[in-house]
Amino acid sequence: MKRKHFAVLALGCFAAAAVAACTAQEDTAARSASIDADASASIRGPAAPPPEAGESRIAVVYFSEPETADRRALQGSTEALARIIRDRTGGALLRIERDAPYPSSHDALVSEARGERDRDSRPLIRSLGDLSGYDTIFLGYPIWWYDMPMPVYSFLETYDLSGKTIIPFVTHGGSGLTGTADRIAAAEPGADVRGPAYEVYRTDVPEAGPSVLRWLGRLGF
Ligand SMILES: Cc1cc2nc3c(=O)[nH]c(=O)nc-3n(C[C@H](O)[C@H](O)[C@H](O)COP(=O)(O)O)c2cc1C
Repeated sequence: MKRKHFAVLALGCFAAAAVAACTAQEDTAARSASIDADASASIRGPAAPPPEAGESRIAVVYFSEPETADRRALQGSTEALARIIRDRTGGALLRIERDAPYPSSHDALVSEARGERDRDSRPLIRSLGDLSGYDTIFLGYPIWWYDMPMPVYSFLETYDLSGKTIIPFVTHGGSGLTGTADRIAAAEPGADVRGPAYEVYRTDVPEAGPSVLRWLGRLGF
C-alpha cells in the first residue's frame, strides 16, 4: 500500500519533466563517466580528519536530499537519523554529496535520480577524507527508485571498507529496505554488514528517536 504512494507520486512527475530530464540525464552521463578513484581529487571543502587516538572510531556516513528550493538549509529525514546516531555514539558525522548538486525541484530530482539508476551510473562525489581510522561505519540513505541513491554506490566503490563493520539505516516512502543491505555487502565483500538495518517510513522520522535508541542498544551502542 505504502509502496503505491511513492509510485503514484513519481509517475505524475515524469510526463512534465521528460524533456528537461533528458538534458539532465545527458549531463549526468557525462559526469558519471568516471568514479573519483582518488578521493582527494574531489574535495571542495575541508574533509573530516581521521580520528585521533582515544577518539571514537565510529563514523556516521549518510546521504540525504531534503526537498525544498533551499534544501542545503534544511535537514532531510536521513540526516535526522544520522544526527541521533552521532549523538548516541559520539561518531563523526560525514555526508555523501554528489559533486554536482541535484536539481531543487521535486520533479526534476525524481527524474534525474531515475536516469542515474537506469544507467547504473556512479556520479562523482565529494571526498569524505580518510576513513581508515574508523572501524564501524553507520551508513544511512533514503530509498530512491527501490534502490540506494547512486552516489552511495559511488561512495562504496571509492572507499574500500574491508575489515570494517557497516550498519545500514534507511528512510523510505513505503518500499522498505528493498534488498539494499545485500547490495552493500556485494559492493564491500571484505566488510561485515551487520543487521538488522534500521528502517523507517519518512513521515515517522520526527518520532523515531526512541526506536533508533532501542535499535542502537540492541546492537550494543
Ligand atoms: C528521487 C526519489 C526517489 C524515491 N524513490 C522511492 C522509492 O523507490 N521507494 C520509497 O519508498 N520511497 C522513495 N522515495 C522517498 C524517499 O525515500 C523518502 O522521502 C526519504 O525519507 C527521503 O530522505 P531524505 O529526506 O533524507 O532525502 C524517493 C524520493 C526521491 C526524492
